[in-house]
Amino acid sequence: MGMKKEGLKLFENGKRIDGRAYDELRPIKMEVGVLKRADGSCYLEWGGNKVLAAVYGPRECLPRHTQDPLKARINYRYNMAPFSTDERVRPGPSRRSIEISKLSKEALEHVIFTEYFPKTSIDIFVEILQADAGTRCAGLTAASLALADAGIPMKSLITACAAGKIDGKVVLDLGKLEDNFGEADLPIAYMPRTKELVYLQMDGDLTKDEFKEALRLALKGCDEIYRIQRDALKKAYEGEVNGR
Ligand code: CDP
Repeated sequence: MGMKKEGLKLFENGKRIDGRAYDELRPIKMEVGVLKRADGSCYLEWGGNKVLAAVYGPRECLPRHTQDPLKARINYRYNMAPFSTDERVRPGPSRRSIEISKLSKEALEHVIFTEYFPKTSIDIFVEILQADAGTRCAGLTAASLALADAGIPMKSLITACAAGKIDGKVVLDLGKLEDNFGEADLPIAYMPRTKELVYLQMDGDLTKDEFKEALRLALKGCDEIYRIQRDALKKAYEGEVNGR
């Protein structure tokens, strides 16, 4: 965000650098039930992002002193594979991945009926295999489907998407160059059933009106992604995927 590159035009003649319109998402596909050993899983591709989400639980929460007698404990680990970016990512948690994991976990605590499963943990692993901007949204969207695949009761799915600003124009779903050289990025997640926001971050600067427009676009993106999420679940449970 905010890097300078002389002569680089991100928005010209109504089109973006990859040919998209201002309100167009990158191509997205998802498949659930891709991992045998996990209770629930999802593989998601979104533009150049490739993400695997795996869910285990509810299972006994260990060590025991971390148990909550009234509800399940949610653990969320966002991790970038060392080969996921141009430069090798140093293995282990970083400040950035700890922050993304914490906020994603808090978003999911809003939708999971944790009080149904006291003393247990629900462990969510999000592995970014290939990163191309927007990985926190891709991870949360995949995690929510993996939770549904694990049969964990939730008030709603969670759908995440970002909007941002490039060359002064508010646009949906920033790609990698747009993220690096753009002016702002606003990732959000919401519960499509109840229309409650459960995640919102802002990198860069937006005026009040630009913020409203970015939020409108991101919510519109979420509606499209929600449709793809539901189709992926229907496909899996109509027995069309992996003979299930
Ligand atoms: O991925 P997301 O947009 O949620 O997070 P970001 O911190 O805004 O990062 C934007 C992009 O920068 C990532 O998707 C990666 O492609 C890249 N990145 C990287 O190459 N190395 C890192 N350590 C972190 C991010």
